Amino acid sequence: MSGRSVTRVRAARAALAALAALVLAASSALVPAGAAARADAPKVPKVPKVPANFLWGVATSGFQSEGYFPDSNWTRYVAQKRPGVTDPYKNSVDFRHRYPEDIARARALGVKVFRTSIEWARIEPKRGHRDPAALAYYDDLVRRVRAAGMRPMLTLDHWVYPGWVAAQGGWKNPRTAKDWLDEARFVVERYRRMGVIWITFNEASFYLFREFADAPLTLPQALAMKNALVRTHRAAYDLIHRIDPGAMVSSNIAYGTILNGLFDGVLFNQVTDKLDFIGIDYYYGASVTNVTALNVASGEPWKAVPEPDGLYYVLRSYQRRLPKLPLYVVENGFATDNGKPHPDGYTRSQHLRDHIYWLQRAIGDGVKVIGYNYWSLTDNYEWGSYRPRFGLYTVDALTDPKLTRRPTDAVPAYRQIIASRGVPSGYIPVRKPAWCTVEDLTTCLAPPKTPPAQ
Ligand code: BGC
Repeated sequence: MSGRSVTRVRAARAALAALAALVLAASSALVPAGAAARADAPKVPKVPKVPANFLWGVATSGFQSEGYFPDSNWTRYVAQKRPGVTDPYKNSVDFRHRYPEDIARARALGVKVFRTSIEWARIEPKRGHRDPAALAYYDDLVRRVRAAGMRPMLTLDHWVYPGWVAAQGGWKNPRTAKDWLDEARFVVERYRRMGVIWITFNEASFYLFREFADAPLTLPQALAMKNALVRTHRAAYDLIHRIDPGAMVSSNIAYGTILNGLFDGVLFNQVTDKLDFIGIDYYYGASVTNVTALNVASGEPWKAVPEPDGLYYVLRSYQRRLPKLPLYVVENGFATDNGKPHPDGYTRSQHLRDHIYWLQRAIGDGVKVIGYNYWSLTDNYEWGSYRPRFGLYTVDALTDPKLTRRPTDAVPAYRQIIASRGVPSGYIPVRKPAWCTVEDLTTCLAPPKTPPAQ
């Protein structure tokens, strides 16, 4: 990795930490002494079941799981050992060849949606040349997902573009937006009228951040990329609706705790009229006593202590802002350190149930949540490392040549949740709601009605 990139990432992390300290200092100044003691309000709302047509799903992405990956910006970043790249990519978990069995695993869970990305780098490895083997693979994948009774949720860009696009400067080159839209048109025409739920850009804010660090981009170039993402999403939204009328289209937000307002200001707020649902990726919350989400910036997401109740506030707040749009949790998941149990004993199944509980609480409050995807079906390549593991099925990608998928405790838990349309009405979350959470600062003064002491 180059010295310039390291400095860049360090500077970005320092800025993040400083901003966190500032916001937390400001929020703690609002807190009256003793407010925490009132967190034992007795009346706990029972949670409703999710609607019968609720879209339970699993999510993954092409580059992160497929293996046998062609030249792309990301294969180059791995080869160049960009910041955060510690493991070779190898062949990830070989979803490219094992997709029929992974689709069967998803089906056995009972999910209705299977999310992955259609990789531009695989389809068009050279400008103007579309690879027939890649097309046959994606055709078969989409066919099998549908045959298994699931809807495909297809991401057009999960942060990866072909090597030839990287060579022309990626998003630094205005031509990339035009090329991107040509590819989008091709893919949408191929899979139209198949009940696909389309995602244009996965987490535009993180895409921007990663490209800033990895491409790398100067500040003016990052600003130009931001503008290009906004313009291209807007154009793609109209294009998809022309080609695949009635399809649902969105670009999922990476919920960003204290930085969320900034992300919304520069990206999300520019596209709210071009979304059919609000797609939210919720992993990390933060509160006065929990700023462990900062560990994500240093590449150690397993050290972030989850705040499942944050999901509830986030869903409510987006619904308040855009009352007409439904919401879909496009990603939610939990990192372990290489599959090791968390030191506090919090398991993947507990984490899953707690988040579903808060999602049901939001539904109980009238928030129109239409779906939830678990990230991820299997462990995969976490942008440079196999150490953070998010899979319902765990895979020792670096050491097991057979790439065996081993179910975690969350597999039966998710199956049960889906079959029962959520957690039972009297469910008591394992993790207590946070006090004075960044997701809703009114909790500093009026703590949420919490379930009985755990
Ligand atoms: C991304 C995924 C990533 C996951 C877990 C999301 O930000 O869309 O690609 O693997 O979070 O970190």
